Amino acid sequence: MRTFALISLFICSGVLAAFVFGFDLRDTVQTLEYDDEQEGLEDQVVIKFSHVTSEHTPKGLAARKFAELVEERTNGTVSVEIYANGALYNDQDEQQALKENRVQMIAPATSKLTSEYPGFQILDLPYAFSSYEEVRKAYEGTIGRTLLAELNKSEMRGMGFWYNGFKQMTSTSESLLHPSDFERMHFRRMPSPVIERQFQALDASTSLLPFNKTYENLHVEFINGQENTTSNIYTKKLYETQDHLTISNHGYLGYIVLTNETFWKNLSDEQREIIETSMEDATEWIRRHSIETNDAHLRELKRTDSISIHYLNQEQQNIWRQALEPVYIETEAFVGRELMQELDQITDQ
Ligand code: SIN
Repeated sequence: MRTFALISLFICSGVLAAFVFGFDLRDTVQTLEYDDEQEGLEDQVVIKFSHVTSEHTPKGLAARKFAELVEERTNGTVSVEIYANGALYNDQDEQQALKENRVQMIAPATSKLTSEYPGFQILDLPYAFSSYEEVRKAYEGTIGRTLLAELNKSEMRGMGFWYNGFKQMTSTSESLLHPSDFERMHFRRMPSPVIERQFQALDASTSLLPFNKTYENLHVEFINGQENTTSNIYTKKLYETQDHLTISNHGYLGYIVLTNETFWKNLSDEQREIIETSMEDATEWIRRHSIETNDAHLRELKRTDSISIHYLNQEQQNIWRQALEPVYIETEAFVGRELMQELDQITDQ
């Protein structure tokens, strides 16, 4: 009440002063609206960056790092607005939104490009990579360059690959230690034919579901298992609906950062250069931090006590690898012999 009375008094004195001294209140209002920081706003470039994970995941952290670098290096003339957790667009519509320039950047899991760009299937092969270094070689070497080139013929321009981590399996009631444990189970999967074949090879059925629908579908028991990194399992609280987590490291989940081609072409050379170097620096930063982020989330999962955690030993892992071998033969037809040979070279070194 007291504040209201003070404000009213302030306004009334303003009106009285205008009346007595004869100055025009509209000028005062215009002057008050003026703000140095607003100058040049019409020249500011805004990059709307939409993604589906939490801000605390490798992708969320990388997006924030990228935004900080771009804003700092352009003195704020390019700003990056981040929309995490699918707040703006989700798996189903983010690629279309990017193509129509409703957002200027997205970073879908590489698996989500496989239907339009079959070459990306190579990155989903089970046990394709057994170390982070092998993933880096694939992203930075011939495989990464070939996939980016394939993409750059479209309205979506590939900016680079971002790192998350190795995928683990979670399940309701039965723990997953042997391929036979998958029989008759129903898993959520991403839209990648390789991932579909992976579960088929284990005699499990699947439903293609968006990331942000996983929790509720586990909760109502439409599905009783899913695969993801520990950071996604923790931050999306998937562990609340699951009894078991198997540390299988059976596949790698990473991202392709995409921008709209027309938006890109309309930037100045200087803006493009700053955005590119900021992307490279943010990529290198998340390459190093993604491992500790997933480790930290695994520790949190252990602390919750609500999910039993199982580690596959070497012998169990070999049995999983054997069961998943047929997926390689089926995938070569989509990916091509050359890329498969590239993968062999990386993993044989
Ligand atoms: C993501 O990390 O972007 C989501 C991955 C998923 O759909 O499981």
